[in-house]
Amino acid sequence: MARYAHITGWGMAIPERILTNFDLEKMVETSNEWIVSRTGISERRIADDSESSASLAVQAALKALEVANVHPLDVDLIIVATSSPEHIFPATACIVQDQIGAKRAGAFDLLAACSGFIFALDQASSAIRSGSVNTVLVIGAETLSRFVDWADRNTCILFGDGAGAFVLQASEEPGGVLSAVMRSDGSGAELLTLAAGGSKLPASLTTVQNGQHYIRMNGREVFRFATRVMTQSTLEVIQKANLSLQDIQYIIPHQANQRIIETAAKNLNLPPEKIISNIQRYGNTSTASIPIATCEAIQEGKLKAGDRVVFVAFGGGLTWGAALVQWSGPLPAKKRVYPRRYRWFARLRSRLLRLWRRLEGLLWGKQAG
Ligand code: ACO
Repeated sequence: MARYAHITGWGMAIPERILTNFDLEKMVETSNEWIVSRTGISERRIADDSESSASLAVQAALKALEVANVHPLDVDLIIVATSSPEHIFPATACIVQDQIGAKRAGAFDLLAACSGFIFALDQASSAIRSGSVNTVLVIGAETLSRFVDWADRNTCILFGDGAGAFVLQASEEPGGVLSAVMRSDGSGAELLTLAAGGSKLPASLTTVQNGQHYIRMNGREVFRFATRVMTQSTLEVIQKANLSLQDIQYIIPHQANQRIIETAAKNLNLPPEKIISNIQRYGNTSTASIPIATCEAIQEGKLKAGDRVVFVAFGGGLTWGAALVQWSGPLPAKKRVYPRRYRWFARLRSRLLRLWRRLEGLLWGKQAG
């Protein structure tokens, strides 16, 4: 029997704090007029000290599980696509796994910069179709504001924080993720980097003094690359599913720059109403931008069951890709579950496990040594 990977739940989380272009005018030499005309961005959300990529990811994940009516104990795999992980390791996905109480799930992070959500979607749907898992949480979560040089007007105007999540479930009903493409070109690695903090350039006084822990970007080159690959990969993913552009109801692109989105739409000869854009309010939230835009499109009644939608993204690496999805909605369920209510139990479980590990160390640690 054929298996299909359906998107059955979705959720988003954004910090409350808003940073407007007018706020930025006070921080660097820029203007609201320049930012709006060159990028389409008016404001973005910035995480406060109590928030992080994992905390936003947890909120988005719980909302997505609630929509899908899936209990955390039934999740087999959690993939967090992020360029601003909680740590180099452990994976942000493991922190999410613990905090939502998904005790039967494997969890890992995926790094493909802003294309990460598409890559994660492809990996999740392939794992479902192969039969190795039934239920996967795919999350894009970012707090890039922590890596932005607030004195660099080329980058600080672009990025925002947030998270979005999808639940993918196996079904014999045709639909769900119909095709996907993943591409990369490491010869463009220098165009968009966060150079230090890894094994090549570990953190040191010099890396801090040289500002190498900040995002650096060649905006013009990235722009040229982005407009080319957004068009190419949209057409490729449609062709791979044996469909044509006329069969597609919506394109949900990575929200990096309104001009990139419009150029891609023009190249594809698509009317604006087919392209979902909310960059004006959130800026570039990297891996979170596609699921956040999807959640808002659903709230606005745009995306409905049966619609075919192309998700398309590009990012540092360089990476790019697209996924074509026949939109589904929640699978029929026998009884209602409450993933958010389960959270207190997940917290308690986590505390008890930590306590037990300490006790074990005290009781048997000496013997093992
Ligand atoms: N305010 C005012 N002026 C500015 C600002 C600013 N914030 N930023 C740059 N300028 C100036 C430049 O210094 C330059 O001045 P000059 O001509 O005197 O040298 C002028 O504006 C034009 O600069 P450009 O870089 O050519 O501006 P451009 O129109 O290309 O817009 C931008 C810059 C918005 C960065 C654009 O190139 C872009 O969006 N590129 C794609 C970036 C992107 O999508 N990155 C995310 C990738 S996803 C990921 O993986 C994280």
